[in-house]
Amino acid sequence: MNILAPSILAADFWQLGEQIQEVEKAGAQYLHIDVMDGSFVPSISFGMPVIQTLRRHTGLFFDVHLMIEKPERYLQEFADCGADLINFHLEASDDIRGTIERIHSLGKKAGITIKPATAADAVRPYLELADMVLVMTVEPGFGGQKLMPECLEKVRVIRSLAASRGLDIDIEVDGGITADNVGLAREAGANVIVAGSAVFKGNIGENIRALA
Ligand code: DX5
Ligand code: ZN
Repeated sequence: MNILAPSILAADFWQLGEQIQEVEKAGAQYLHIDVMDGSFVPSISFGMPVIQTLRRHTGLFFDVHLMIEKPERYLQEFADCGADLINFHLEASDDIRGTIERIHSLGKKAGITIKPATAADAVRPYLELADMVLVMTVEPGFGGQKLMPECLEKVRVIRSLAASRGLDIDIEVDGGITADNVGLAREAGANVIVAGSAVFKGNIGENIRALA
């Protein structure tokens, strides 16, 4: 299924509640929530209290993208505050298999995320275990960057690897997605599309229709 996951990093935080209602009304199914620790990535965003508050007001599926060192330290907290899917970076974890299993034991979906410099091959051992692979199409840390088209090649490789094993895994792309390049991402094999600036800058309803 084709899913759109608006990234609230690009939202106007003064109007966050209304903007989330708007994306929901326009048909987005997921909410992409970027958590940054100022260490794994240079920037700091927001954390559990914000997610917990949003959880009380919307039924959207929460796709939490952890850009934090040693994500295994906080899985319980993110599960408790309302994540439905926890995406953690393969580069940030010492125990990838254990982290996926722990997320599952908390009753949540587990995604492994790779940065632009990480090869598609790195996810090979986990395709049977994870629910999703999130392929970053920009260097993580900031919204509003330009898509690195070479990353879509990794989407293609992972999609065909999964298909050759009969796996229907979700593949998400994140970073620099616009109405002009979303077709390329889908054609490469991505079925979950993150978009921040392309959703929240301008008219949200029109933007979402353009990305559909
Ligand atoms: C980048 C974040 C992205 C970002 C996407 O580190 O993981 O989710 O918010 O924003 P756009 O779509 O503006 O590139
Ligand atoms: Zn993200």
